[in-house]
Amino acid sequence: MKKITAVAPSNIAFIKYWGTKDDVLRLPKNGSLSMNLSNLLTTTTVEFNTTFKQDVVIINNKKESIKNNRAIKHINRIRKLAQIKTKVKIVSKNNFPTGTGLSSSASGFAALTVAASHAAGLELSEKELSILSRLGSGSSCRSIPDGFVEWLDANTHETSYAKSLYKPEYWDIADVVVVTSIDKKDVSSTEGHKLASSSIFFETRVEFMKEKMKRIKECLANKKFKAFGEIVEAEALELHSIYLTSHPSLIYLLPSTLRVMHAVKKWREDGLPVYFTLNTGQDIHLICEKKNAKKVAKFAEKVEGVKKTIINYPSDGTRLVEKHLF
Ligand code: DP6
Repeated sequence: MKKITAVAPSNIAFIKYWGTKDDVLRLPKNGSLSMNLSNLLTTTTVEFNTTFKQDVVIINNKKESIKNNRAIKHINRIRKLAQIKTKVKIVSKNNFPTGTGLSSSASGFAALTVAASHAAGLELSEKELSILSRLGSGSSCRSIPDGFVEWLDANTHETSYAKSLYKPEYWDIADVVVVTSIDKKDVSSTEGHKLASSSIFFETRVEFMKEKMKRIKECLANKKFKAFGEIVEAEALELHSIYLTSHPSLIYLLPSTLRVMHAVKKWREDGLPVYFTLNTGQDIHLICEKKNAKKVAKFAEKVEGVKKTIINYPSDGTRLVEKHLF
């Protein structure tokens, strides 16, 4: 069997997936909308080989325990589809910090799904890959198609997948990622999703979601940056209001994250159009027009506690590459 390598981008959700209708199938409570990121990448090489005695998983140069391993659970789905029992070797690397809110599970599972399904001899469509990837990590289904992506609001396994709305070239915007700490978050997204419904605000959020998706898609279709940014920032604050009011509460914002949030508002008052968004973690994404990306990064680097910035543009989804990691 062939050795296959895939590169997958992480993605930033402008409208977030938070809470599930079914946590085994990872069917989200609502549809979501995202952009693939050109500079937050996972590269994964997969080989099934009958000479291997056991499964091996190496992530960022560290050998992982196989017991209850999330990647191996995903590989088992793929082995079942391909009707094989062959042992696997997986080597995966991120070019960015893991577990700090930069959605490494999105790029990680998208790369694993594409590399492993090809390595197992499966020939799956983009839609089938997105569905399969979703089972590993919900947000990863949006890292399969290109550019600006919608994860459809759906009720069944077969209809819950992501599709491209626009190619990356469609809109010259940027996501300046601001790393505020490399410490790992203590509650993962997977655990967090289960707490969503314990917030008194959650049902209200879900109620307004269809309307919000409609509004943001209109902004995207007409490239209305200001109106788009306002929805994106309000959505991030709403997500964190759910975190803060869950039981137990989830507090991801660090002093440096808050300093960047205040700074963004100030820059905007001074005439620089930039909006923030946040995920499950302390790192913060600054959404601006491409022409302002370098300026935004320079400003952000001056904020106390900021470790570094990573400028991202809209990118293609997951693709195969020739260069293997082993
Ligand atoms: C806040 O996709 O990481 O980033 O399905 O359990 O792997 P699992 O969760 P995950 O959740 C992402 C949450 C989010 C919002 C988003 O990316 O839509």
